[in-house]
Amino acid sequence: MISLQDWQRHLAAQLAAVSDQPTQEARWLMTLALGLRSTELLVNPQQVLTPAEKAQLQTLLDQRLSGVPLAYCLGEWSFYGLDLAVNAAVLIPRPDSELLVSLALLESRVEDGLQLLDLGTGSGALALALARERPQARIFAVEQSPEALAVARLNGKRIGVKNIQWLQGDWYAPLNAGLRFDQIISNPPYLASNDPHLPDLQHEPRTALVAGPTGLECLEQIIFGARSRLHPGGRVLLEHGYEQAAAVSKLLQEHGFQQIQTHCDLAGRERVSSARSPEHA
Ligand SMILES: C[S@@+](CC[C@H](N)C(=O)[O-])C[C@H]1O[C@@H](n2cnc3c(N)ncnc32)[C@H](O)[C@@H]1O
Repeated sequence: MISLQDWQRHLAAQLAAVSDQPTQEARWLMTLALGLRSTELLVNPQQVLTPAEKAQLQTLLDQRLSGVPLAYCLGEWSFYGLDLAVNAAVLIPRPDSELLVSLALLESRVEDGLQLLDLGTGSGALALALARERPQARIFAVEQSPEALAVARLNGKRIGVKNIQWLQGDWYAPLNAGLRFDQIISNPPYLASNDPHLPDLQHEPRTALVAGPTGLECLEQIIFGARSRLHPGGRVLLEHGYEQAAAVSKLLQEHGFQQIQTHCDLAGRERVSSARSPEHA
C-alpha cells in the first residue's frame, strides 16, 4: 500500500533528474493528478492512492522525465498574476515578457477609447494582462495559429475580460483598414533558424520561436506595418533577443520612428525596444 506521502517522496526523487525544485514540482503534479488542494497533501499524508490515481501520476511523471516542460504537464502557468491555460500550441509565457507589459502600462494613459494591439498573442498573455489593468481600453489581439488562438480565447473566458477582440491571421492582415492604435505591442518569434537554443525548446511551437534565417524577419514586418497603424504619437513596444537591440533600433530609425529607447530586464539585458510614431505623418 503506497500512501500520498510515499508517492510525493518518490516523485520528488525522480524529478530531481530534470528539475531544480523537485519537491515543489512533486506537490504540483500530485495536486493536479488527484484534484487536491496542496493543504490536503499535508492533512492526510497516509491516504492510499487508487490504481487510477497511480496511473495518472505515472503518466505525468513519465512526461516530465521525458523533458516535457512543467507548464505543459500542469496545463496552466502564471503570468502577471494571471493563471493561464497553456498547451503545446502556445509558447509558455515568460517572466521576461512582464517587462513589456509594465512598460506598455507606464506608457498608456488610463482613459476611455484607448486602442491597443497585441501581435502574435499566443496564449493571450500580454493582451489579457493589459485588459485587466486597462478595462476601458479596446484591445485587439492577433494570432496566426488557430490552435493558439483557441487557447487565448479560452483564457479570455476564464479570466472574464470583455474588452479584447481575438483575430486570426498574419500580423496586420485581419484588421479592418481604418483601425488605428495608440499602442502596438508584440513579443514575436525572434530566433534565427539555426539558433543553438532551439534543441532546449523542442516542446514549444517552432512557429512561435523562429522568425527566419536572421531572427529579425518578424520584427521587421511588424515595424514596417506599425507606422500606418499607429495614431500620430502612438507607441510601438517590441520584445527581442538580448543581442538584437541595435538591429531593432536601426529598423525603427529607418522607418521614421522617434524617441527610440532600449529597456533592460532585471539581469541588465536589452530585451525590449520602444519608439514613438511622429506627431505628423
Ligand atoms: C514568441 S510567441 C509570443 C506569444 C505571447 N505573446 C507571449 O508573449 O507569450 C509569438 C507568437 O506569434 C505568433 N505568430 C508567428 N507568426 C505570426 C504571424 N505572421 N502573424 C500573427 N502571429 C504570428 C506565433 O504563433 C506565436 O504565438
